[in-house]
Amino acid sequence: MGLKLVKEGAVISPQSPSESKLQDFCEKTGLNCTLEWINGQYWIHSDRPNENPFTIHIDSEIERHLEYFKKSSLQKELLAKSIGIKGPYRPRVLDLSAGLLGDTILFLSFGCEVHAVERHPMVSLLIESALQNARHPLAARLHFTPADALEFLTHAPDVDVIYYDPMYEDPNRRTSPQKEMRLFRTLVGSDPDTDLVFAAAKKKGVRRFVVKRPRLSQSIGDEKPLVYEGKSTRYDVYLGLT
Ligand SMILES: C[S@@+](CC[C@H](N)C(=O)[O-])C[C@H]1O[C@@H](n2cnc3c(N)ncnc32)[C@H](O)[C@@H]1O
Repeated sequence: MGLKLVKEGAVISPQSPSESKLQDFCEKTGLNCTLEWINGQYWIHSDRPNENPFTIHIDSEIERHLEYFKKSSLQKELLAKSIGIKGPYRPRVLDLSAGLLGDTILFLSFGCEVHAVERHPMVSLLIESALQNARHPLAARLHFTPADALEFLTHAPDVDVIYYDPMYEDPNRRTSPQKEMRLFRTLVGSDPDTDLVFAAAKKKGVRRFVVKRPRLSQSIGDEKPLVYEGKSTRYDVYLGLT
């Protein structure tokens, strides 16, 4: 099947360079995926019956976080602490693994300027189409590049924090992941170059390098990081990199 793009009920051919790139990728790798254009942006379909398509909602997710931070201080958030937010200080963040923008949107909601990269052409297309719909002023602080982190790091902009959340098998998982996550994992697969990206990011000499890990898993490198631990997730923070 390869790539199937659906607009207003009809199957269409790729039109933009990103759509053509995804079609080539599907042909080369044998990936089957259906993306449907609904309400001005792409949604991913599961091929299982009874599963709804899903997409990235940038504006409503920012609003949801901002509502939450009216009641609960963002300074208490583990992710905010791990990137070094204190008082009014907001670091500039480079997110090397944008995925479905969950963490990126949190950084935006904290008030950070964010550079984000994503290498999977299906996920990149989803992000680019979601960005076309984003109107929230904080969304304008996101600079997205569809690229491989290793390549991007060779000419990365000046930032205070590098953040990395590669795909992993969660050893603590007792229940099956949310269905969006299940489909996302099936389509995107694993990240076999984690050690290389880790080493390249550390070499950039930023103030903080933050790696998201399952709580009980090993850290990626040999160095002992500063650890912020939640119920199922851990943030390994590397400081003083030069
Ligand atoms: C676990 S997901 C990230 C989830 C994201 N933090 C969120 O909250 O939605 C990992 C994502 O990073 C991307 N990724 C992993 N390694 C990458 C690399 N070297 N360059 C660019 N993207 C990468 C994968 O394609 C995948 O979409």
